[in-house]
Amino acid sequence: MSDRFLRACRREPVGTTPVWFMRQAGRYMPEYRAIREKYSLLEICRHPELAAEVTLQPIRALGVDAAILFADILLPAIPLGVGLEFAKGEGPVLLNPIRNLDDVKNLRPVNPESDLGYVMEAIRLLRGTLSGVPLIGFCGAPFTVASYLIEGGSSREFLKTKTMMYSAPEVWRALMDKLSGVLRDYLVAQIRAGAQAVQIFDSWVGALSPQDYENFVLPYSQMVLQAAQKENVPVIHFGTNTSTLLPLMKRAGGDVIGLDWRIPLDDGWKILGDNVAVQGNLDPAVLFAPRSEIKKRVGDILQRADGRSGHIFNLGHGILQNTPVENVKAVVDMVHEFSFSNDGRAAECIETRDVA
Ligand code: CP3
Repeated sequence: MSDRFLRACRREPVGTTPVWFMRQAGRYMPEYRAIREKYSLLEICRHPELAAEVTLQPIRALGVDAAILFADILLPAIPLGVGLEFAKGEGPVLLNPIRNLDDVKNLRPVNPESDLGYVMEAIRLLRGTLSGVPLIGFCGAPFTVASYLIEGGSSREFLKTKTMMYSAPEVWRALMDKLSGVLRDYLVAQIRAGAQAVQIFDSWVGALSPQDYENFVLPYSQMVLQAAQKENVPVIHFGTNTSTLLPLMKRAGGDVIGLDWRIPLDDGWKILGDNVAVQGNLDPAVLFAPRSEIKKRVGDILQRADGRSGHIFNLGHGILQNTPVENVKAVVDMVHEFSFSNDGRAAECIETRDVA
């Protein structure tokens, strides 16, 4: 089994930089679209054999170094009683959004094993079949999940979310208390079912100032991250638009911090310090560029990492719809074929693949 992903998470030396992609299973893949013709997104998530099959599709097609469980950060909304639908072309719809303290109090208690057991079952199934690569479990971070529960769906300005924070902080804190407990239990259950690493997606946290992050978000993320770290698996803490939040995200926790393309990888790593690993940070839109441009930009990221232990190659955010599959595969090969010469300087994509 290739353990370069887990080794890099622990900042141990690897001969070859590991690579995987957020949203590596999805509509850009013909195999995925074929399954989606027959089943809805939620049907796939709720049937462990289907979720396992979709998780394996990018492993077979791309040769990535890690599998990410096929699920969605909004699944806990179902047992919480908020109601979840994926409207065609519109993204997620939360049917009973949270507006006041009564709504928070009416959230149902969640037992991950009985209420989201299909997720744990998919993990167990996958651990029985995946022999080549480690399996990543995940959940949304309290802020990002709260934003969906409050807004009722995707949002640009997060106005309802921020209005609750600023005008009714007691409601915000009650919601975050509740959510962070649920997300902690859910993540720990995934680890105990067999997830070998976990990622916390705080996709939209970059909408906040550092002061608001520290005051309204950090303690809750920290609670989830620390509980996962106690289970002794690598924990990846991911967000976008976080250049000014990186020191606080590091304080909140995680063995690996996600970087997006808005900050050069070496600058982001410098802010974070050497005692943490980093994941990133190719702009997903680069996958639509000519092969020569992709190669230049993949090379630039690897040169900025400079062969230091603790870099996991990824995009700065998820793969976009309509991304050419062959370009995704080409990036995997470029990362695997890139090597560093003895003086630590990056050498141009020499054909040296180490045998895992
Ligand atoms: O990475 C993977 O391959 C694992 C699967 C995965 C999905 N969602 C499946 C999915 C993961 C890790 C997620 C996380 C997720 N879900 C996030 C955080 C990651 C990020 O991109 O920031 C968020 C914000 C969500 C909420 C969500 N789910 C949205 C906003 C949407 C609609 C987006 C769209 O493209 O329409 C979804 C739907 C969703 N979840 C899809 C997939 C593959 C879309 C494809 C489909 O409908 O089949």
